[in-house]
Amino acid sequence: MAKQVPARRLEGIDKNPWLEFVKLANENEAVNLGQGFPDFAPPKFATEAFQQAVSGDVMLNQYTRAFGHPPLVKILAKFFGKLLEQDLDPQKNVLVTVGAYGALFYAFQALVDEGDEVILIEPYFDCYEPMTKMAGGCPVFVPLRPASTYKGQLMSSGDWQLDPDELASKFTPRTKAIVINSPNNPLGKVFSRAELEIVANLCRKHDVLCISDEVYQWLVYDGKKHISIATLPGMWERTLTIGSAGKAFSVTGWKVGWTLGPDHLLKHLRTVHQNSLYHCPTQGQEAVFSNFERELKLFGQPDSYFVQLPEATQKSRDHMIESLLTVGMRPVIPQGTYFLIADISTFKEKMPDLPGSEGEAYDSRFIKWMIKNKGLVAIPVSAFYSSEQKKHFDHYIRFCYVKSDSTIKAMDDKLQQWKTELNG
Ligand SMILES: Cc1ncc(COP(=O)(O)O)c(C=O)c1O
Repeated sequence: MAKQVPARRLEGIDKNPWLEFVKLANENEAVNLGQGFPDFAPPKFATEAFQQAVSGDVMLNQYTRAFGHPPLVKILAKFFGKLLEQDLDPQKNVLVTVGAYGALFYAFQALVDEGDEVILIEPYFDCYEPMTKMAGGCPVFVPLRPASTYKGQLMSSGDWQLDPDELASKFTPRTKAIVINSPNNPLGKVFSRAELEIVANLCRKHDVLCISDEVYQWLVYDGKKHISIATLPGMWERTLTIGSAGKAFSVTGWKVGWTLGPDHLLKHLRTVHQNSLYHCPTQGQEAVFSNFERELKLFGQPDSYFVQLPEATQKSRDHMIESLLTVGMRPVIPQGTYFLIADISTFKEKMPDLPGSEGEAYDSRFIKWMIKNKGLVAIPVSAFYSSEQKKHFDHYIRFCYVKSDSTIKAMDDKLQQWKTELNG
């Protein structure tokens, strides 16, 4: 074939870290603490709502409104209107998408032009970089820097901070948008109001849009509060707030997501939607509507899933932290999300030459070794960094702790066995 086959926009974005590690996990029957999904049953009310949506009104088998199932957009407007302190119009300020991934894709496609710069905060959920590039944009990276080095005490994800001057230096006349992900995957950082204000000031000063990925907003621990950047002065007008029913109700396979924002931004995402997918599956939307109806009634009460899920997940987080410490890994205590990152420097010092392909980051080689020899799967943190920064952060690996008690126990058993081998 003489003609170039793949479109040029795909150049350099064909690698995907997940595929390789998921395959390795399956081949080795290891305890999978890699990918971010719960391996326990979703709440009964959620599965019952889905069953009802499938077996109830026959019209739920047909297309629904293109920009979101009417009952769902209505309840999302009501629910999030309170949280975002806005009077949301279900028709204009809410768009339902195929997962938060869908919302992110639309945001980049609708807002980013050839040559536009998009600021990404490292470490970042890995799809932001290829999505920026596919839209023709140019990612500009700024790192969260660990504020202190290990002095006998575990670090918190809150100790990883932006340097305000460094962040300011990244804003140029070509900056179109910044992506904020709080709570952040993979670090588990929950941005404080003061940190968000620094970002918001820069957005206002340079007339920059904000894509705020808040899929883990319910998963915050130790009394920490999630703050939506759209609630800061002057930010609603320039912010898209993205959420996921998958993460909210432990149903990642349903792939129902949404974006909330001012009509003057959302109308462009609707243009992408109407010229690509046009509809999202109806029954999942109906089930998510029922779930939110329930959560609205129970908001803040002990029976609310948004209260119960973080309580249960925090226990698994604490269990995992204790277990990882026994073999000499140093977890960074996450303030939120499904994830924590653990420092594996002591292993890097003891076994610097683990096998791997040429140029492969140490964390990736370490995980392959760990899967084969210790039966545990994690994800290399270098996968969440730009190519320039990867080498500076290859001594961390990411674990997912939104897992059943039996998976957490299986992890514990493997780590106890590992500890015995270390002492033996
Ligand atoms: C930060 C972040 N944003 C978005 C998503 C995608 O969410 P969804 O499964 O709803 O597409 C994920 C999934 O892992 C995520 O971690």
